[in-house]
Amino acid sequence: MVAAAGINITKVETSKLQDINLENLPFGRYFTDHMLEADYENGEWKNVEIKPYQPLLLEPSLAALHYGQAIFEGIKAYKDTDGNAAIFRPYDNFKRFNISAERMNMPVVPEEIFIEGMRMLIDLDRNWIPSMADHSLYIRPFMFSSDPVIGVKPSETYKFLIILSPTGPYYAAPMRIYIEENYTRAAPGGVGYAKNAGNYGGSMLATTMAKKQGYDQVLWTDAFEHKYLQEVGTMNVFFVIGNKAITPSLEDGTILAGVTRDSAMTVLAEMGLEVVEQKISIDDLIAAHKSGELREVFGTGTAATISLIKELKYKDYIMHFDTDAWTTAPELKKRLNAIRNGAAADTHGWMFRI
Ligand code: COI
Repeated sequence: MVAAAGINITKVETSKLQDINLENLPFGRYFTDHMLEADYENGEWKNVEIKPYQPLLLEPSLAALHYGQAIFEGIKAYKDTDGNAAIFRPYDNFKRFNISAERMNMPVVPEEIFIEGMRMLIDLDRNWIPSMADHSLYIRPFMFSSDPVIGVKPSETYKFLIILSPTGPYYAAPMRIYIEENYTRAAPGGVGYAKNAGNYGGSMLATTMAKKQGYDQVLWTDAFEHKYLQEVGTMNVFFVIGNKAITPSLEDGTILAGVTRDSAMTVLAEMGLEVVEQKISIDDLIAAHKSGELREVFGTGTAATISLIKELKYKDYIMHFDTDAWTTAPELKKRLNAIRNGAAADTHGWMFRI
């Protein structure tokens, strides 16, 4: 079948849905019946199709496996209490995907494939959207270079895919975070603002070492002085200091411009906080902790949603927080959830109905 947008659809004969319990799901382990796949060749996108979820057949010489031209996005779709399906801010992720593509010298993906393809794919697999609290359908669009050539050069061919995963919370419990002052995630002029696979690959050693000390993730610091705070593993970070909600600014290009970060800034301002994007140093943070003004610390991300941070460690200085006593981050989470599940009005036009 060929749909209106010229996207071919081949449906599965038998759905896998009956084999899966859409409750208490781990993050990113189960995938729906269908996926979208498209090829970039000779300067244009072609072979755009939705088909049964299946393995890819790849050449060992595939450029992406050697030189890492590979980018992705994370987006979520929700079901409201009336059973309507909607995607949260897909155009913002679409824009960021193409910003990543440009930085990694890859072709941009047009709206008719990224947005319309995603809409059609979710429409087909809409029964996979979980309705349990803190659950959603995680959408993973990604693109990689596909030339079967190991010369170091931008690939001439690429593959774009979208896969869907019904999923529960990424971090269920409040987190312990290690402030990293040895390894670096990103430097000005680098690729920190792009959502390329290598940013995550490069983060794993520091995270593994932090885990050995009992921490869940690292909070990255700047490449030169290891003094200015950037972002946490898979999330942006916010500090509630007095009546201000402060998040590291994006200006030097080292931090990912999170869609949840942006949504949190809007909702926190609606809650009456002064929202500030600025450079924030570990010295400022420790001073605010010592004076008792540092009230809450939390992460924001598509997968992570709003994740409370109960401990921060910098060298020998450990900051403990009683997250049960917090009001700001839980209220922010509640308001965002209410928009997503239709309990509150979508005054910002964030929900894209399918
Ligand atoms: C997301 O929040 O969607 C991410 O991409 C983070 C992580 C799961 C890689």
